[in-house]
Amino acid sequence: MIPNQWYVVMDSEQVKDRPVGVTRMGEKLVFWRDDTGKVSCLRDKCVHRGVQLSKGTVINGYLQCPFHGLEYDTSGRVKRIPANGKNAPVPERFKVHGYLTYEDHGFIWVWWGEEPPADLKPPRFFDDLDDSFSYGRAYDPWDAHYSRVIENQLDVVHLPFVHHNTIGRGGRTLVDGPLVQWVADDAFYVYVFNRRDDGTPPRRPEELSKPVDGFRLEFIFPNLWQNHISEQTRVVAAFVPVDEAHTVLYLRFYQNLVRLPLLRELFNWLSMPFNLLVAHQDRRVVVTQRPKPSGLRIGEKLIQGDRPIVEYRRRRQELIEEATAPPTPA
Ligand code: FES
Ligand SMILES: [Fe+2]
Repeated sequence: MIPNQWYVVMDSEQVKDRPVGVTRMGEKLVFWRDDTGKVSCLRDKCVHRGVQLSKGTVINGYLQCPFHGLEYDTSGRVKRIPANGKNAPVPERFKVHGYLTYEDHGFIWVWWGEEPPADLKPPRFFDDLDDSFSYGRAYDPWDAHYSRVIENQLDVVHLPFVHHNTIGRGGRTLVDGPLVQWVADDAFYVYVFNRRDDGTPPRRPEELSKPVDGFRLEFIFPNLWQNHISEQTRVVAAFVPVDEAHTVLYLRFYQNLVRLPLLRELFNWLSMPFNLLVAHQDRRVVVTQRPKPSGLRIGEKLIQGDRPIVEYRRRRQELIEEATAPPTPA
């Protein structure tokens, strides 16, 4: 994990009026909403005697532990200990760790790391996905480290092999470039120039120019990706880390071609089996990669076409080092 980042961890529709217990980043967490609808993410362990809070209920805007009824607010502070009487003050130490949350675009993010800075910016999303778009979605579990799942979605070399009968049809095995363009210090685009092998060598990224429009891959650190298929159709994925060996792929197909309600929902729903079929072609090979987590120096022999993966690894390493560097003395 890269510390001090906003991670997409849930879809808004997964958290309704009951607490939900999930593992994210190797930790058991409970997600719930208070009576204003604000989403809260707490460590899923009651400070009293260790019961899972996700087995409790939400009452009067508080999360109530199922064992002895302690009530928590959205920050994780205990507001009431029923056995002590309703007028008894609650000691400060009755507090479970809570994560800062952010919700937009139907996703829930948590701030993972140290105390967030006062000028913390909200997480970045794909700002060209406006309200004209609707989407279908699926949650797909992978027995893989999230870094490997991300790298797979940045991998242009695998297309004619893994997807020979779907999105990689046509035998375009030769990889020109690809071209990687950084658009912010936490986001880059990948332009793909695969072609049939005519005996000429692959062109180097410097020999290529960025296409005016159309297909590209977009990645936002730490765990969001968009396949910009066209102005009107996209696939978005969030790579949600469960633990060191498991990831859930939150997959969405966005489009604004069909806008009539119902018809649009049907169209979006029908798109998902194909998108999942493609994802499962990837999953079949990615789960076999060793070592499980990716890294800069893991002994792999990379080639020119792996450029996006190298860029991802380099920046990921830098971000990890920035977040874990000891503070410089004043
Ligand atoms: S364990 Fe939660 S109230 Fe006792
Ligand atoms: Fe793939």
